[in-house]
Amino acid sequence: MPKSSATAVAHPNIALIKYWGKREQASNLPAVGSLSITLDALRTRTTVSFDSSLAADRLILNGAAAPAEQPRLISCLNALRALAGSQDSALVESVNDFPTGAGLASSASGYAALAVAGAAALGLDPRDPRLEEVARIGSGSAPRSLFGGFVLLNNTPSGTHCSCLQPPQDWPLQVVVAVTSEAGKAVSSRDGMTDSQHTSPYYPAWVETHEADLSQAQAFIAQRDFLGLAELAEHNCLKMHAVMLTTRPALVYWSPVTLACMQKVQELRAAGIPVFFTIDAGPQLKAVCLPEAADEVAAALAAVPGVLRLIPGGLGEGARVIPADG
Ligand code: DP6
Repeated sequence: MPKSSATAVAHPNIALIKYWGKREQASNLPAVGSLSITLDALRTRTTVSFDSSLAADRLILNGAAAPAEQPRLISCLNALRALAGSQDSALVESVNDFPTGAGLASSASGYAALAVAGAAALGLDPRDPRLEEVARIGSGSAPRSLFGGFVLLNNTPSGTHCSCLQPPQDWPLQVVVAVTSEAGKAVSSRDGMTDSQHTSPYYPAWVETHEADLSQAQAFIAQRDFLGLAELAEHNCLKMHAVMLTTRPALVYWSPVTLACMQKVQELRAAGIPVFFTIDAGPQLKAVCLPEAADEVAAALAAVPGVLRLIPGGLGEGARVIPADG
C-alpha cells in the first residue's frame, strides 16, 4: 500500500464513576464499568501515517521519541492492521496541549485519537464500533473518549461497550481543572491498579459495590440531579483512593495542595455553590460545577496556595478526523 495518513483530535475524559482494576490483562478488560464526561478544554492531535517503506512502528510524542509507550502502541496498531488486512508499519505523531502522564487522562485522548486517525488512514470507517476495542487495548479509559458528553462504559460478557448517555449540550456542566503539579506520576495507572488488585483488602468491596454506583449515577444524570451526582461522584472517587491508599506499596497520588483543593470544594458546596471534585491517579483536582458557579469556583481554587494554574472548560465532543492542517 502506498503511504496513507490521517489526522484526528480527541479530548481527555474524566470518570465520575471510576475504573480501577482489570478482569483480563491481555485485551485490557476492566474489572468494572465506568461513567465519564469528555472535556473540551484539553486536546490531543494525532497523525498516523502507514507506510510500506517503514521498517517498524514509531511514535513521536510531543516532539520526542517515547520508547516506554511502544509496546501499547504496537498492540493498538496490530489491532487496526488486523481489521484492515494491512501489513504496513506506521509513524504516529501525537501532541498534547496539556501535561502528559500527570493524571489528566492523556492516555485516554491519546489512544482514542490514534484509533480514529489510524482507522481513517487505513480506509476504515472512523465510527466503526470495533475501534472501541482498539482504543481499549491502548488504555481502558480511552474508548470513552471516542464519545462526547456523558459516556457510559459497560462490561459485556466478551468485552466492553460504550454509549453516549447525553451529548454535551443537554446538560452543559463546567469543569475547572486545578493543576497542582506539572510532573509525571511516579506509578502508572496500569501498574498501580495491578498492585491494588493483588494487595488491597478493600479491592473486593470496590468491585462489589461498583454496579450500584454506576446505576445510581445514570439515574442522577437522567434526572439532572446535580447534588445527588455530586455526593455519589465524590464517594466513588474517595472509595477508589481508599483502595489506592491501602495498596502495598501505598499509592498516594494526592499532594497537600490536592487536599486543600478538596476541602475548598466541600466548603463551597456546604455554602450552596453547586460543585464537586474528582481526582484520578495524579495530584490534579477536577472541580465539576453548574455553569453559573464556574467563575466563583475558579476564583476560589485560584486562591488556594500551591495551585499552579487552572484549566476551565466545558464538555466536549468525541474523537474525530480533522484535515491534516487543522
Ligand atoms: C484513575 O485507563 O489509564 O483515571 O487501562 O491501564 O491504561 P490503563 O489505565 P487507565 O486508568 C484510568 C484510571 C483512572 C480512573 C478512570 O479514568 O476511570
